Amino acid sequence: MTRPKVFVARRIPDEGLNAIAAACDIDVWPGQLPPPPDELRARVADCDGLVSLLTDRVDAALLAAAPRLKVVSNFAVGFNNVDVPACTARGVPVGNTPGALTDATADIAVTLLLAAARRISESAGDARAGRWLTWEPLGWLGQDLAGRTLGIVGMGRIGFATAKRLHGGWGMKVLYTARGPKADADRELGATHVDLDELLARSDYVSVHADLNPTTKGLFGAAQFAKMKRTAVFVNTSRGPLVDQAALAQALRSGTVFAAGLDVTDPEPLPPDHELYGLPNCLIVPHIASATIDTRNAMARLCANNLLAGVRGEPLPNCVNP
Ligand code: DGY
Repeated sequence: MTRPKVFVARRIPDEGLNAIAAACDIDVWPGQLPPPPDELRARVADCDGLVSLLTDRVDAALLAAAPRLKVVSNFAVGFNNVDVPACTARGVPVGNTPGALTDATADIAVTLLLAAARRISESAGDARAGRWLTWEPLGWLGQDLAGRTLGIVGMGRIGFATAKRLHGGWGMKVLYTARGPKADADRELGATHVDLDELLARSDYVSVHADLNPTTKGLFGAAQFAKMKRTAVFVNTSRGPLVDQAALAQALRSGTVFAAGLDVTDPEPLPPDHELYGLPNCLIVPHIASATIDTRNAMARLCANNLLAGVRGEPLPNCVNP
């Protein structure tokens, strides 16, 4: 019997690759950068399965170039790079990796929140550059966390894990947006479901955990930043296009908001000459929320399980098609 053929669009941890290679013939893209779209189309032409990353666009054109494709296994929890309706129309299930990166991502949200509130990037840069002249009573003053109000935009798994850390560790009061009230957040965190305007007006910290879809694209623009407190810290670990970056830069520059911490930007990578890098109150890291060894191994296992189920024609353990 012929073995299924699978294209893996980047090297992922061996735990995933080995599990796939045990049952399939695999072609792993060797580059550090993603395969260009033409190359991706050519590589999947005779494949039964595809392991895609958030940098790979999986759309109708790609599906048309891959008549045998039985499954797309996305190495991420987010799947905005995949045209799911087009996959569904073709009968191709799409897998993702929920759960595996919840803790690592919540850890980065808290890290960014603390670092932005306490001006860590700016003050460390000043120390390194010789601008640490003495102990300054009025130097590098930041914001406190204890007892302040945290606004979670999107109370899913990662939003909940972030709120749990900040409520448990710093006694923060939690407000959140979601499609409706979440009983576990209300019960365990004493959290309150509010609309976005109320959340923005009342929160000292706003942490974004909503997925990217047509209703959340550009959710944070000048009007939203204007509704926030001037002392507020804004954190985004979801997807860059939720934020109008020009509006964020203006809000940070003018003091409309105090500081921001971003794990995600639009585009990625953010060009080194982008205005946000020039702002001392903006801390940007290169989409590293899930970048721990254990987390990436766990993602690789989930990704392999979805892929293998798909090539066998079985239901995927984590399938995002409706
Ligand atoms: C995801 O999985 O969607 C993250 O953004 C990358 O790990």
